[in-house]
Amino acid sequence: MIEAALEQSLPLSARHGAERLNEALRAAVFPGGKRWRPILTLLGTMTAGGAAQPALPIACAIEFLHTSSLILDDLPAMDDAKLRRGRATLHLIYGEGPALLAALALLNQAYALLASGGEARAGTSRLITEAARCIGPDGMIGGQAADLDIRASRGNSHALASRQLKTTALARLTIIAGAIASGADEQDVSALARYGDCLGAAYQICDDLLDELGESATIGKNVGQDARHLRSTFTAQFGAEGARRLALDFLAEGKQALQERFGDCQTARLLIEAADLVIVGAGPSRTSTNAASWRAEVKH
Ligand code: IPE
Ligand code: IPE
Ligand code: MG
Ligand code: MG
Ligand code: MG
Repeated sequence: MIEAALEQSLPLSARHGAERLNEALRAAVFPGGKRWRPILTLLGTMTAGGAAQPALPIACAIEFLHTSSLILDDLPAMDDAKLRRGRATLHLIYGEGPALLAALALLNQAYALLASGGEARAGTSRLITEAARCIGPDGMIGGQAADLDIRASRGNSHALASRQLKTTALARLTIIAGAIASGADEQDVSALARYGDCLGAAYQICDDLLDELGESATIGKNVGQDARHLRSTFTAQFGAEGARRLALDFLAEGKQALQERFGDCQTARLLIEAADLVIVGAGPSRTSTNAASWRAEVKH
């Protein structure tokens, strides 16, 4: 469902001569990565009482925001990465200029999709405001800026927390977007937001662990990036075991927020289970044996 909706929403140009840009846009989105964000957007919507189908444009917007952030993150001016999803990074194939433009086209399209989606559109304008906040200088963009700066402030827990924003802010938006659009109850949105923040924090900690301990062949991207850029992480600060424990604490806190608010609601239960799967998905491989051993390792 999500792949078809992404295909339909891809911001392709009808302009003559735009073949190369269109090719870059397609290559940025297909084949995708784990796609956990759009799936969780639909679950978040349903947990707050909304329907999945009308939230599909919102789910696509989230995946486009994520994809644009990855293209920018890989550029030489940022992480200078060579590998993404097992293939050469977009700028290595199409050039830095076209990669930058593809990222901007996806970012732009995301806001158009947010404006069009949502059941009954009760909260559309609030959703757009919230999205701009989550992506902006006090959200994902701010977190990326803190990540670039963190070398100077190694050991400072405030800086570590700011750096987490690069992932927590989009994870928060991922979970609450459909709920806001369908005019959900404020307390429902707060519980979903807490879960999103916690899931994002746990996810980035696991991503940093993989950057340090994983293998490029299994995670499909360069490893050792954080060390190469001298960026402090929770792993650098607390060691692998300390970082793992922290990730599990975040997960437990996120699950509890859902449990307290939604009790036995079936989709909330799915979101709670999804938290474990998403963290397993951040492991070295998605094959069942490796996933099980990664889960055991994370739980250790
Ligand atoms: C990578 O996100 C960037 C981080 C927030 C750590 P994902 O690991 O979800 O990337 P894809 O979409 O599956 O490739
Ligand atoms: C990137 O974090 C987060 C965003 C793109 C907002 P990382 O730099 O750790 O992500 P990877 O490891 O390159 O996927
Ligand atoms: Mg980065
Ligand atoms: Mg990176
Ligand atoms: Mg990383």
